[in-house]
Amino acid sequence: MDLKHWLQIWKLSNKYGFSKIGFFKFVMGYLFSKNYHLVFNIDKKKEVVTGFNFIEHNRIKRLVVSEQYRGKGIGKQLIPDFCKLVYTDNKRNAVGFYEKFGFKVVGKKNKDVFILKR
Ligand SMILES: CC(C)(COP(=O)(O)OP(=O)(O)OC[C@H]1O[C@@H](n2cnc3c(N)ncnc32)[C@H](O)[C@@H]1OP(=O)(O)O)[C@@H](O)C(=O)NCCC(=O)NCCS
Repeated sequence: MDLKHWLQIWKLSNKYGFSKIGFFKFVMGYLFSKNYHLVFNIDKKKEVVTGFNFIEHNRIKRLVVSEQYRGKGIGKQLIPDFCKLVYTDNKRNAVGFYEKFGFKVVGKKNKDVFILKR
């Protein structure tokens, strides 16, 4: 993975509200710890990152598919079997998406954020 792809992920993650500090913490974790994982997909013709999943331990921290690539099964490809936990804000409307992959709501982190496990 080269710098160009990191920059594309940076832009995508900013667009969908991942804080700059959160991004750098993840990159540091990814570079220096075995507990951080990055799954991503590239449109090989256009050399563009279409989506990514930042994972810490077994928790999905940030999963984004670029708008023009949605509905093509990319989100599904970005969730490896070892992911068992996700927190998702109600405003993202993604609970139904995670339920497709065996996640179930087990509680709430606060009034807006659901905790899902599988
Ligand atoms: C949620 C998101 C990752 C889905 O990505 P995607 O590539 O469009 O998803 P896929 O094409 O792989 O869809 C897989 C299945 O989930 C369904 N699905 C997709 N988004 C859904 C949603 N918001 N609610 C319910 N089901 C959904 C699809 O219809 C598809 O169903 P099928 O297998 O029966 O055909 C994408 O919309 C996104 O990046 N949203 C903005 C960021 C976000 O909300 N991230 C998740 C919360 S942290």
